[in-house]
Amino acid sequence: MTRPAPFVFLLLGVSLLTACDNMAKQPRDKTWTPADGGSANAGPDRKVWPPQPPPNSIAREDLPQPPPALTAALLARGKERYEIYCTPCHGYLGDGDGMIVRRGFPQPPSFHGDALRNAPTRHFYEVATNGWGAMYSYADRVGSDDRWAIAAYIRALQASQNTAAAELPETVRGTLR
Ligand code: HEC
Repeated sequence: MTRPAPFVFLLLGVSLLTACDNMAKQPRDKTWTPADGGSANAGPDRKVWPPQPPPNSIAREDLPQPPPALTAALLARGKERYEIYCTPCHGYLGDGDGMIVRRGFPQPPSFHGDALRNAPTRHFYEVATNGWGAMYSYADRVGSDDRWAIAAYIRALQASQNTAAAELPETVRGTLR
């Protein structure tokens, strides 16, 4: 049996060293926080505020924020975002019979049950932010203002299914058949 010539080991060693060098330089998936929590940049002689993440950083999630003002534009935005992100499971009316549920995904509760009708608006925002049981978080795909917009639209969906005719404004009631 012939033994491999010593230069084979030398080659192997050199190639391993090269590999290590490449690994040290490759892009890394590291969480960014300002070195000092940002405090050095605060105050009147601050350089850059808020502290800027290095170029090419990607936000992992949009952190919870207080609700924006409730306007018709916010509701319209909420409808659009709801129909993109929530209808596959919750359905267009919020009945919990979305397209992928009809094809076997676990069924979410209807938004028109007593528990969710009586839940505070914040609950819808928090479920979209943190997830709930089998449902995962949407905080990395739907920004904070959009999550509030969706929560406001869910309230409108609930009203659309559960408002007594007597509670409607006179002008609208007249159009009912
Ligand atoms: C991939 C399917 C899916 C999508 C998309 C989805 N959900 Fe859900 N959702 C579920 C399931 C399943 C549950 C029930 C989870 C459980 O009880 O374990 C649920 C539950 C909920 C609940 C009820 C929580 C409670 O108190 O019982 C709310 C509110 C909700 N989702 C809001 C949303 C919103 C807002 C969106 C869009 C941003 C959304 N969901 C998108 C599957 C989904």
